[in-house]
Amino acid sequence: MFELTRKVAIVTGGSSGIGRATALLFAERGAQVMVADVNDSGGWETAKMIENAGGQGFFVHTDVSKLQDLSNLIDITVQQYGGVDILFNNAGMAYFKGSLTTSEEEFQRTLDVNLKSTFFASTLAAAKMRGKGGVIINNSSVNAVSGAADLVAYSASKGGILAVTIAMAKEYAPYGIRVNCILPGPIDTPINERRPEMITDRVATLAQMANLTLLKRVGAPRDVAYGALYLASEEASFVTGTALVVDGGYLAAR
Ligand SMILES: NC(=O)c1ccc[n+]([C@@H]2O[C@H](COP(=O)([O-])OP(=O)(O)OC[C@H]3O[C@@H](n4cnc5c(N)ncnc54)[C@H](O)[C@@H]3O)[C@@H](O)[C@H]2O)c1
Repeated sequence: MFELTRKVAIVTGGSSGIGRATALLFAERGAQVMVADVNDSGGWETAKMIENAGGQGFFVHTDVSKLQDLSNLIDITVQQYGGVDILFNNAGMAYFKGSLTTSEEEFQRTLDVNLKSTFFASTLAAAKMRGKGGVIINNSSVNAVSGAADLVAYSASKGGILAVTIAMAKEYAPYGIRVNCILPGPIDTPINERRPEMITDRVATLAQMANLTLLKRVGAPRDVAYGALYLASEEASFVTGTALVVDGGYLAAR
Protein backbone atom coordinates (compact mmCIF):
# COMPACT_ATOMS: atom_id res chain seq x y z
CA MET A 1 0.00 0.00 0.00
CA PHE A 2 1.03 3.59 -0.66
CA GLU A 3 4.01 2.63 -2.84
CA LEU A 4 5.54 5.15 -5.27
CA THR A 5 7.86 2.75 -7.09
CA ARG A 6 9.10 4.09 -10.46
CA LYS A 7 7.42 7.46 -9.79
CA VAL A 8 9.28 10.75 -10.17
CA ALA A 9 8.36 13.35 -7.55
CA ILE A 10 9.27 17.02 -7.19
CA VAL A 11 9.08 18.47 -3.69
CA THR A 12 9.43 22.24 -3.42
CA GLY A 13 10.57 23.62 -0.08
CA GLY A 14 12.28 20.28 0.47
CA SER A 15 15.22 21.69 2.46
CA SER A 16 13.31 21.79 5.72
CA GLY A 17 10.22 20.93 7.72
CA ILE A 18 7.25 19.34 5.94
CA GLY A 19 9.03 19.34 2.55
CA ARG A 20 12.04 17.42 3.87
CA ALA A 21 9.83 14.90 5.71
CA THR A 22 7.79 14.37 2.53
CA ALA A 23 10.85 14.03 0.29
CA LEU A 24 12.25 11.37 2.64
CA LEU A 25 8.93 9.51 2.86
CA PHE A 26 8.34 9.58 -0.92
CA ALA A 27 11.88 8.23 -1.46
CA GLU A 28 11.34 5.53 1.19
CA ARG A 29 8.29 4.44 -0.80
CA GLY A 30 10.31 4.13 -3.99
CA ALA A 31 10.04 7.51 -5.71
CA GLN A 32 12.95 9.31 -7.34
CA VAL A 33 12.79 12.69 -5.64
CA MET A 34 13.86 16.10 -6.93
CA VAL A 35 14.22 18.52 -4.04
CA ALA A 36 13.77 22.22 -4.90
CA ASP A 37 14.47 25.13 -2.57
CA VAL A 38 16.32 28.43 -2.18
CA ASN A 39 18.23 26.92 0.74
CA ASP A 40 21.05 25.06 -0.99
CA SER A 41 22.75 23.52 2.04
CA GLY A 42 19.43 22.19 3.40
CA GLY A 43 18.42 20.91 -0.03
CA TRP A 44 21.65 18.99 -0.59
CA GLU A 45 21.36 17.64 2.95
CA THR A 46 17.89 16.28 2.18
CA ALA A 47 19.19 14.69 -1.05
CA LYS A 48 22.06 13.14 0.92
CA MET A 49 19.66 11.83 3.60
CA ILE A 50 17.65 10.17 0.83
CA GLU A 51 20.76 8.58 -0.71
CA ASN A 52 22.02 7.45 2.74
CA ALA A 53 18.70 5.69 3.29
CA GLY A 54 19.16 3.85 -0.03
CA GLY A 55 16.87 6.05 -2.13
CA GLN A 56 17.36 8.33 -5.11
CA GLY A 57 17.32 12.07 -4.60
CA PHE A 58 18.77 15.19 -6.17
CA PHE A 59 18.63 18.92 -5.47
CA VAL A 60 18.04 21.89 -7.78
CA HIS A 61 18.35 25.45 -6.52
CA THR A 62 14.93 26.96 -7.18
CA ASP A 63 13.33 30.22 -6.16
CA VAL A 64 9.72 29.19 -6.69
CA SER A 65 8.64 32.82 -7.14
CA LYS A 66 10.68 32.96 -10.39
CA LEU A 67 9.16 31.37 -13.50
CA GLN A 68 12.60 30.80 -15.03
CA ASP A 69 13.66 28.78 -11.97
CA LEU A 70 10.47 26.70 -12.13
CA SER A 71 10.98 26.01 -15.81
CA ASN A 72 14.59 25.01 -15.12
CA LEU A 73 13.43 22.70 -12.30
CA ILE A 74 10.99 20.86 -14.55
CA ASP A 75 13.57 20.57 -17.38
CA ILE A 76 16.28 19.19 -15.07
CA THR A 77 13.83 16.71 -13.52
CA VAL A 78 12.83 15.42 -16.95
CA GLN A 79 16.49 15.18 -18.05
CA GLN A 80 17.55 13.42 -14.85
CA TYR A 81 14.61 11.08 -14.23
CA GLY A 82 12.71 10.98 -17.54
CA GLY A 83 9.49 12.74 -16.53
CA VAL A 84 7.37 14.13 -13.70
CA ASP A 85 4.63 12.06 -12.02
CA ILE A 86 4.10 13.91 -8.74
CA LEU A 87 4.48 17.59 -7.88
CA PHE A 88 4.25 18.71 -4.25
CA ASN A 89 3.92 22.50 -4.19
CA ASN A 90 5.05 22.96 -0.61
CA ALA A 91 7.52 25.88 -0.47
CA GLY A 92 6.08 28.71 1.54
CA MET A 93 6.77 31.68 3.78
CA ALA A 94 4.87 33.97 6.11
CA TYR A 95 5.00 37.44 7.59
CA PHE A 96 3.39 37.25 11.02
CA LYS A 97 1.50 40.50 10.56
CA GLY A 98 -2.01 41.89 10.42
CA SER A 99 -3.21 43.79 7.34
CA LEU A 100 -2.60 47.21 8.92
CA THR A 101 1.15 46.64 9.15
CA THR A 102 1.66 44.65 5.94
CA SER A 103 3.47 46.57 3.21
CA GLU A 104 2.73 46.26 -0.49
CA GLU A 105 6.08 44.48 -0.95
CA GLU A 106 5.30 41.98 1.82
CA PHE A 107 1.85 41.28 0.40
CA GLN A 108 3.28 40.77 -3.09
CA ARG A 109 6.14 38.57 -1.85
CA THR A 110 3.72 36.35 0.07
CA LEU A 111 1.54 35.88 -2.99
CA ASP A 112 4.54 35.29 -5.26
CA VAL A 113 6.19 32.64 -3.07
CA ASN A 114 3.03 30.83 -1.94
CA LEU A 115 0.40 31.25 -4.66
CA LYS A 116 2.02 32.33 -7.93
CA SER A 117 4.57 29.53 -7.53
CA THR A 118 1.84 26.93 -7.07
CA PHE A 119 -0.02 28.19 -10.14
CA PHE A 120 2.96 28.21 -12.50
CA ALA A 121 4.78 25.12 -11.23
CA SER A 122 1.51 23.25 -11.76
CA THR A 123 1.08 24.49 -15.33
CA LEU A 124 4.66 23.54 -16.21
CA ALA A 125 4.38 20.09 -14.60
CA ALA A 126 0.94 19.45 -16.09
CA ALA A 127 2.37 20.06 -19.57
CA LYS A 128 4.76 17.13 -18.95
CA MET A 129 2.07 14.95 -17.30
CA ARG A 130 -0.49 15.30 -20.13
CA GLY A 131 -0.95 12.02 -21.91
CA LYS A 132 0.22 9.82 -19.05
CA GLY A 133 -1.41 11.44 -16.02
CA GLY A 134 0.02 12.64 -12.76
CA VAL A 135 -0.64 14.06 -9.34
CA ILE A 136 -0.35 17.62 -8.04
CA ILE A 137 -0.53 18.26 -4.29
CA ASN A 138 -0.59 21.81 -2.95
CA ASN A 139 0.29 22.69 0.61
CA SER A 140 -2.34 25.17 1.76
CA SER A 141 -3.20 25.71 5.45
CA VAL A 142 -6.10 25.72 7.87
CA ASN A 143 -5.75 29.50 7.53
CA ALA A 144 -7.25 29.17 4.03
CA VAL A 145 -10.64 28.64 5.66
CA SER A 146 -10.23 29.93 9.22
CA GLY A 147 -8.03 32.98 8.53
CA ALA A 148 -5.64 34.38 11.13
CA ALA A 149 -5.48 37.98 12.34
CA ASP A 150 -1.67 37.87 12.51
CA LEU A 151 -1.27 36.19 9.11
CA VAL A 152 -3.53 38.13 6.79
CA ALA A 153 -1.49 38.10 3.56
CA TYR A 154 -0.56 34.47 4.26
CA SER A 155 -4.24 33.56 4.75
CA ALA A 156 -5.02 35.23 1.40
CA SER A 157 -2.31 33.21 -0.35
CA LYS A 158 -3.46 29.94 1.23
CA GLY A 159 -7.12 30.63 0.35
CA GLY A 160 -5.95 31.23 -3.21
CA ILE A 161 -4.18 27.87 -3.20
CA LEU A 162 -7.39 26.13 -2.16
CA ALA A 163 -9.32 27.82 -4.99
CA VAL A 164 -6.62 27.06 -7.56
CA THR A 165 -6.62 23.42 -6.43
CA ILE A 166 -10.32 23.04 -7.21
CA ALA A 167 -10.14 24.97 -10.50
CA MET A 168 -7.11 23.03 -11.75
CA ALA A 169 -8.67 19.70 -10.68
CA LYS A 170 -11.51 20.54 -13.09
CA GLU A 171 -9.17 21.70 -15.85
CA TYR A 172 -6.75 18.75 -15.62
CA ALA A 173 -9.15 15.86 -14.93
CA PRO A 174 -9.52 15.10 -18.67
CA TYR A 175 -5.73 14.58 -18.80
CA GLY A 176 -5.70 12.10 -15.91
CA ILE A 177 -4.07 14.60 -13.56
CA ARG A 178 -5.42 14.70 -10.02
CA VAL A 179 -5.06 17.94 -8.04
CA ASN A 180 -5.57 18.11 -4.28
CA CYS A 181 -4.38 20.20 -1.38
CA ILE A 182 -3.54 19.69 2.25
CA LEU A 183 -4.64 22.01 5.04
CA PRO A 184 -2.14 21.48 7.85
CA GLY A 185 -2.81 22.83 11.31
CA PRO A 186 0.02 23.85 13.65
CA ILE A 187 3.14 21.86 12.79
CA ASP A 188 6.48 22.15 14.57
CA THR A 189 8.76 23.48 11.79
CA PRO A 190 11.14 26.44 11.34
CA ILE A 191 8.42 28.62 9.76
CA ASN A 192 6.86 29.02 13.22
CA GLU A 193 10.18 30.01 14.81
CA ARG A 194 9.67 33.47 13.26
CA ARG A 195 6.47 34.08 15.25
CA PRO A 196 7.20 37.07 17.54
CA GLU A 197 5.70 35.22 20.55
CA MET A 198 7.84 32.17 19.76
CA ILE A 199 10.98 34.30 19.97
CA THR A 200 9.81 35.66 23.36
CA ASP A 201 8.74 32.33 24.91
CA ARG A 202 9.07 29.22 22.76
CA VAL A 203 7.80 26.68 25.29
CA ALA A 204 4.67 28.68 26.18
CA THR A 205 3.90 29.38 22.51
CA LEU A 206 4.18 25.73 21.52
CA ALA A 207 1.88 24.84 24.43
CA GLN A 208 -0.64 27.47 23.25
CA MET A 209 -0.49 26.13 19.69
CA ALA A 210 -1.03 22.58 20.96
CA ASN A 211 -3.98 23.75 23.03
CA LEU A 212 -5.72 25.02 19.87
CA THR A 213 -6.08 21.41 18.65
CA LEU A 214 -8.45 18.72 19.91
CA LEU A 215 -5.54 16.29 20.27
CA LYS A 216 -3.59 18.81 22.37
CA ARG A 217 -0.36 18.50 20.46
CA VAL A 218 1.49 20.31 17.70
CA GLY A 219 1.89 18.16 14.59
CA ALA A 220 5.18 16.73 13.33
CA PRO A 221 6.29 17.28 9.71
CA ARG A 222 5.79 13.57 9.06
CA ASP A 223 2.09 13.83 10.01
CA VAL A 224 1.63 16.01 6.91
CA ALA A 225 4.00 13.89 4.82
CA TYR A 226 1.73 10.87 5.33
CA GLY A 227 -1.20 12.91 3.99
CA ALA A 228 0.86 13.84 0.93
CA LEU A 229 1.85 10.18 0.46
CA TYR A 230 -1.79 9.11 0.48
CA LEU A 231 -2.77 11.76 -2.08
CA ALA A 232 0.22 10.85 -4.28
CA SER A 233 -0.52 7.13 -4.19
CA GLU A 234 -2.66 4.92 -6.40
CA GLU A 235 -4.89 4.33 -3.36
CA ALA A 236 -6.14 7.91 -3.86
CA SER A 237 -6.93 7.37 -7.57
CA PHE A 238 -10.58 8.49 -7.03
CA VAL A 239 -9.60 11.62 -5.07
CA THR A 240 -9.33 15.00 -6.80
CA GLY A 241 -10.32 18.62 -6.20
CA THR A 242 -10.38 18.20 -2.46
CA ALA A 243 -8.62 19.38 0.70
CA LEU A 244 -7.20 16.94 3.21
CA VAL A 245 -7.19 18.48 6.68
CA VAL A 246 -4.23 17.37 8.83
CA ASP A 247 -4.67 19.51 11.92
CA GLY A 248 -5.21 17.45 15.07
CA GLY A 249 -8.78 18.78 15.13
CA TYR A 250 -7.81 22.49 14.96
CA LEU A 251 -10.67 23.37 12.59
CA ALA A 252 -13.19 21.18 14.39
CA ALA A 253 -12.40 23.06 17.59
CA ARG A 254 -13.12 26.49 16.10
N1 LIG B 1 4.34 24.62 10.00
C1 LIG B 1 3.06 24.91 10.03
O1 LIG B 1 2.47 25.12 11.11
C2 LIG B 1 2.28 24.97 8.75
C3 LIG B 1 0.89 25.00 8.81
C4 LIG B 1 0.17 25.08 7.62
C5 LIG B 1 0.82 25.13 6.42
N2 LIG B 1 2.17 25.10 6.38
C6 LIG B 1 2.83 25.18 5.08
O2 LIG B 1 3.76 24.14 4.92
C7 LIG B 1 4.71 24.52 3.93
C8 LIG B 1 6.10 24.12 4.40
O3 LIG B 1 6.46 24.92 5.51
P1 LIG B 1 7.15 24.33 6.81
O4 LIG B 1 6.16 24.46 7.90
O5 LIG B 1 7.75 23.02 6.53
O6 LIG B 1 8.24 25.46 7.08
P2 LIG B 1 9.81 25.52 6.71
O7 LIG B 1 10.19 26.93 6.92
O8 LIG B 1 10.52 24.46 7.46
O9 LIG B 1 9.84 25.13 5.17
C9 LIG B 1 9.59 26.05 4.13
C10 LIG B 1 10.60 25.79 3.05
O10 LIG B 1 10.26 26.61 1.93
C11 LIG B 1 11.46 27.17 1.43
N3 LIG B 1 11.21 28.39 0.69
C12 LIG B 1 10.82 29.60 1.17
N4 LIG B 1 10.77 30.50 0.18
C13 LIG B 1 11.13 29.85 -0.96
C14 LIG B 1 11.27 30.24 -2.31
N5 LIG B 1 11.04 31.50 -2.73
N6 LIG B 1 11.65 29.30 -3.22
C15 LIG B 1 11.90 28.03 -2.82
N7 LIG B 1 11.80 27.61 -1.55
C16 LIG B 1 11.40 28.51 -0.64
C17 LIG B 1 12.33 27.40 2.67
O11 LIG B 1 13.70 27.56 2.34
C18 LIG B 1 12.03 26.16 3.47
O12 LIG B 1 12.92 25.10 3.14
C19 LIG B 1 4.51 26.01 3.70
O13 LIG B 1 3.82 26.22 2.49
C20 LIG B 1 3.66 26.43 4.87
O14 LIG B 1 2.88 27.55 4.59
C21 LIG B 1 2.93 25.03 7.52
